[in-house]
Amino acid sequence: MPEEIFAAEVAANQANWEARAMLHAKFSFYNVDRYVAEPELISGVVEWDRRILGDVKGLDMLHLQFHIGTDSLSWARLGARVTGLDFSRESLRAAEELCRRAGAEVTFVQGDVRRAHQLLKRQFDIVYTSVGVLCWLPDIYAWAEAVAACVRPGGRFYIRGGHPLISTFEYGRDDTLLVCRSHYFTDGGWTGSYFRGW
Ligand SMILES: C[S@@+](CC[C@H](N)C(=O)[O-])C[C@H]1O[C@@H](n2cnc3c(N)ncnc32)[C@H](O)[C@@H]1O
Repeated sequence: MPEEIFAAEVAANQANWEARAMLHAKFSFYNVDRYVAEPELISGVVEWDRRILGDVKGLDMLHLQFHIGTDSLSWARLGARVTGLDFSRESLRAAEELCRRAGAEVTFVQGDVRRAHQLLKRQFDIVYTSVGVLCWLPDIYAWAEAVAACVRPGGRFYIRGGHPLISTFEYGRDDTLLVCRSHYFTDGGWTGSYFRGW
């Protein structure tokens, strides 16, 4: 489908992510300073995914939708040669700053995932994307074609996502229950980050 069809939705989503990236780079949940202070720190997301992906040492990895770069940095610390792609300028700024401070070499590129192959013009041993990625994309077919074009013959594509149903739940009063509070088929998008006690 032509990119222009979703231009308004993508622009609104991007504006939202520009604001969030700035916020997340400062939020204690992501704890960016800890990655600088602890040269061996690996993000929780990557700790989980590495059990499945295995040893990435010396492999070329494309990290799609890297957000503020904590996972990209973690893969670089595990020995991958990482290129990150995200459409948010603020994400790029935050991720570059993080890796500069942490002394890691990661290449970050700004762009829409649907144009990944056009922008990067190369292929990778691993194309990786994880946690909170698919729900923002308006055209899953264009995304899948772009991803496929970026995987080197014999390479791997790895994705881990959460079902959007999870976002309808909140903790109950005493933290022992999950309560379904939001309507699953809402018309409105998410407009902010929800941090509870972090
Ligand atoms: C929930 S975050 C990914 C979070 C990441 N797994 C983490 O834990 O930090 C989603 C990311 O997707 C990016 N994004 C959304 N739509 C995109 C698109 N069409 N092209 C490129 N990046 C996109 C946003 O800028 C944001 O950084």
